[in-house]
Amino acid sequence: MELLIVNGPNLNLLGLREPSIYGAETLNSIEVALQKKAEKEGVVLESFQSNSEGAMVDCIHNALGKVDGILINAGAYTHTSIALRDALLATGIPYVEVHLSNTFAREEFRHKSLLADCAIGVVSGFGGRSYELAFDGILAHLKTGE
Ligand code: DQA
Repeated sequence: MELLIVNGPNLNLLGLREPSIYGAETLNSIEVALQKKAEKEGVVLESFQSNSEGAMVDCIHNALGKVDGILINAGAYTHTSIALRDALLATGIPYVEVHLSNTFAREEFRHKSLLADCAIGVVSGFGGRSYELAFDGILAHLKTGE
């Protein structure tokens, strides 16, 4: 089983960036924790981060035929990007939308997601743990089909 984590704009600054909202954990520490989890489960885990929408689209395309599931935190592109939605739908790879913060408890423009309605599920509001919950969720889905 192979999973891909895709992180979008500004998530490279986790740890520095608005810690009262996003916490003190860095993206690297989140990825290290997920790698440990993946090793225990016998899952191969690839990580990708970019601040560029096109690079994220390319990454999703490159996952075709290779990856069984995607965890995606598209950052602000969650709320704007038809291109990312189309890329995810084009590949047909099941995905879970992830957010550190509870986007529904924030500004109204963050309440809308262009990815959520086609996702297996959405995990939002648990800080770095959102990724672990999403990992468990997608793995269970891929194993059971539920
Ligand atoms: C975020 C929420 C988005 O609204 C925001 O633009 C981000 C981070 C989150 O993980 O909470 O960059 O995706």
